[in-house]
Amino acid sequence: MSDSFDVIVIGGGPGGYVCAIRAAQLGLKAAVIEGRGALGGTCTNVGCIPSKALLQSSHLYEEAMHGFAAHGLKVGGIEIDLPKMMARKDEVVKQNTTGIEFLLKKNRVAYIKGWARITKAERGAHQIAVKGLDGAETSYTTKYVVIATGSDVTPLPGITIDEKQVVSSTGALVLSKIPKTMIVIGAGVIGLEMGSVWRRLGAEVTVVEFLDVILPPMDGEVRKEMQRILEKQGMKFKLGHKVTGAKPGKTGVDVTIEPAKGGAAETLSAEVVLVAIGRKAFTDGLGLDVAGVKVSNRGFVEADQHYQTNVEGIFAIGDVIGGQMLAHKAEDEGVACAEILAGQPGHINYDAIAGVVYTWPEVAGIGKTEEQLKEAGIAYKSGKFPFMANGRARANGDTMGFAKVLADATTDRVLGCHIVGPAAGDLIMEVAVAMEFGASSEDIARTCHAHPQLGEVVKEAALAADKRALHI
Ligand code: FAD
Ligand code: NAI
Repeated sequence: MSDSFDVIVIGGGPGGYVCAIRAAQLGLKAAVIEGRGALGGTCTNVGCIPSKALLQSSHLYEEAMHGFAAHGLKVGGIEIDLPKMMARKDEVVKQNTTGIEFLLKKNRVAYIKGWARITKAERGAHQIAVKGLDGAETSYTTKYVVIATGSDVTPLPGITIDEKQVVSSTGALVLSKIPKTMIVIGAGVIGLEMGSVWRRLGAEVTVVEFLDVILPPMDGEVRKEMQRILEKQGMKFKLGHKVTGAKPGKTGVDVTIEPAKGGAAETLSAEVVLVAIGRKAFTDGLGLDVAGVKVSNRGFVEADQHYQTNVEGIFAIGDVIGGQMLAHKAEDEGVACAEILAGQPGHINYDAIAGVVYTWPEVAGIGKTEEQLKEAGIAYKSGKFPFMANGRARANGDTMGFAKVLADATTDRVLGCHIVGPAAGDLIMEVAVAMEFGASSEDIARTCHAHPQLGEVVKEAALAADKRALHI
């Protein structure tokens, strides 16, 4: 393998490998360095993909146990084969990681296995040392470096994650038995997704959250509706509480909690505790100090709007630069960054990046929430439509939730959309396209939506923004 490249991307996650593919498509000689022994990063190995595999398996189980009867389907003898469920998840991960390896080959991107360290920052000829999986070190030279090293679990001071009794999301993906009880610390995306997996499979799940609300960045009405639904599904919440300690013992973990605003402490016990209080930038051993690359006081690599750090020729994308820690945001930054390296105007509309929580029903949001619009003093109109009034949702027996479209009061331009409901993550994408094109709520409302479809809920919400919903 040659030791000189136009662009070396450090990190083979969705940001990194996509950046390298796009760079190669544009004629740059590109390489990806990845240390974990498989491509795809957090997302493919211990994030998006394995969690969705388990969400799907546990959803099917819950449907069989509690949903089939309403359809006149009698089933009996349903059992959980956890090792098989886990093996299926692992196989799905493998299909994806090997698929990415194939994509790199197809696009003539070099895949260098090992941990990278920037050893010299020199304009046009940066140097990177890679400690291979066999321990041997090799040096490479590159015109551009793209740091795409992603993120890691935020630890909770005083609590040791042993990935057995006290687990991070990574441990929660590989539990060898279904715990009877589980305490989840943090009512964010990971807490609710992984909490849902284990609750569906039989665990009694209690979520402890520091704030008074679940899913803090989401729209207020959506948060309330989702909490109500999750409680109905059996998930318990201790909101406005902070965890002050966790003591593992022979049979489980004692977790001490206190009201966030002060008050008496109490102890909860569970077989397994999941710590899911956020993620932090991963830059360990990367040599940022040697290269002189600035990081923020929260540890994120600082990059300008063209993804360049303070050091010329060293760029950064994805989770490591902060913002929404989402795979699709990382991918799109990878594409934009590669295009900028190739002399093109790479660009992302950060106002049109959807966030999706893959519980069931799903939660999806894009653009501004009502709270943000109020705070910014923007006059807006809101249209809301429930799935209960949608024919397809009723036919499916999946009628929880609603869609809400927010539009500028004067121009009618769509400013946001928030959905709790079946397949909310898929439904929100028509609004993403609409927002990309600067559409109005009337544009969505006048688009002919096939019937009977769940997407008609979004159309009706857009109609409702003009007070002319047809089916309610
Ligand atoms: P990463 O995917 O973290 O990849 C960085 C890679 O760099 C890693 O593989 C790491 O090994 C490698 N690396 C780091 N340092 C070095 C070095 N010095 N040398 C060589 N290699 C190095 N997002 C979604 O959009 N949808 C979801 O459904 C979703 N589900 C998630 C579920 C879980 C449980 C978790 C934890 C995250 C989830 N995310 C999801 C978030 C998503 O995984 C991240 O936003 C995404 O992976 C970020 O991509 P990235 O390329 O920036 O970094
Ligand atoms: P998060 O930021 O979504 O939620 C963390 C929650 O923990 C917040 O509600 C916060 O208030 C709470 N918290 C923080 N400190 C606490 C404390 N000491 N005690 C109690 N609660 C505390 O972080 P999470 O769930 O760990 O996910 C990390 C990242 O991974 C997210 O940024 C998310 O974007 C990404 N992710 C995305 C998914 C998706 O797109 N479907 C799925 C899973 C993760």
